[in-house]
Amino acid sequence: MILVTGATGKVGGQVVSQLLDRGAAFRALSRDPGTAGLPDGVEAVAGDLSDPESLDAALDGADTVFLVWPFLTAEAAPAVLDRIAKHARRIVYLSMMGAQERTDGPVDPITLFHSEVERQIERSGLAWTFLQPVGFASNTLGWAPQVRAEGVVRDLNGALARPLIHERDIAAVAVRVMTDGPDEGHAGAKYVLTGPALITQAEQAHAIGEAIGRPVRFEEMTLAEKREQMLAWLPPSGVDAVMNAWAGMAGSSEPVTDTVEELTGTAPRTFRAWAADHAADFR
Ligand SMILES: NC(=O)c1ccc[n+]([C@@H]2O[C@H](COP(=O)([O-])OP(=O)(O)OC[C@H]3O[C@@H](n4cnc5c(N)ncnc54)[C@H](OP(=O)(O)O)[C@@H]3O)[C@@H](O)[C@H]2O)c1
Repeated sequence: MILVTGATGKVGGQVVSQLLDRGAAFRALSRDPGTAGLPDGVEAVAGDLSDPESLDAALDGADTVFLVWPFLTAEAAPAVLDRIAKHARRIVYLSMMGAQERTDGPVDPITLFHSEVERQIERSGLAWTFLQPVGFASNTLGWAPQVRAEGVVRDLNGALARPLIHERDIAAVAVRVMTDGPDEGHAGAKYVLTGPALITQAEQAHAIGEAIGRPVRFEEMTLAEKREQMLAWLPPSGVDAVMNAWAGMAGSSEPVTDTVEELTGTAPRTFRAWAADHAADFR
């Protein structure tokens, strides 16, 4: 029995549909299963990661947990992992590329909490596998309002190329790991997951245009404009750390890995395929 957390989210939602297709035994966690809109046939269970005791019913009889961490700090991790370890023996954690590795300059809050959750999991006694994806293709949904209204994407650095990954491919790896037996070599593995190729931000905008059948142009923002935009949702120290991470990405490309294909037997989907799947969001 697998417990899927984040089951109503981008990656967890795909984990749910792929486990359903395979006929695997699983439960889907949501804070409010009544409004979660999970597919028919899915056993939806209530639970809140900020209230570890609320997880007990969902964990009863579960041997594997797919963990999505929804917070910006790792503060709640010890209590949550303690609860999970009372029931399950295996955990697959949705982490990020670079967790526990970035040390150059100020480290952004997201890398910090994933690094800390990974360290806590390593100490939990559970058999663990870390999925360490690069940026999600779905982050470009943040451009959707500008694309819908004006056919434009305004952002930093149109030449910045990243191997963005489709949420379905992350889920396919999670499902493979969780449905394989315990001796398949996934315990203690850190899988760095990427899309098939680097694609620049300007090319991403054009691919969205192709998907919706209208041209979309990329307009370069200045650093000062981007900083101002981010200050609306991050403190100045967080903005500095994110800027440092972006400067690092611009200075040296993120790697492209074969891990999705090695584990699932299928090449990861291109950004164009992702844009076609999500065209309705940009129309
Ligand atoms: N975006 C990227 O580029 C990127 C890259 C690498 C890693 N990541 C990591 O991926 C994770 C997010 O995955 P995602 O995008 O698939 O998620 P998402 O679409 O943002 O959905 C968030 C999920 O978390 C659940 N949730 C929120 N608060 C909760 C709580 N207190 N207790 C239990 N569940 C809660 C929500 O479920 P309910 O509302 O139904 O309860 C929902 O299913 C984050 O840890 C992020 O750092 C993101």
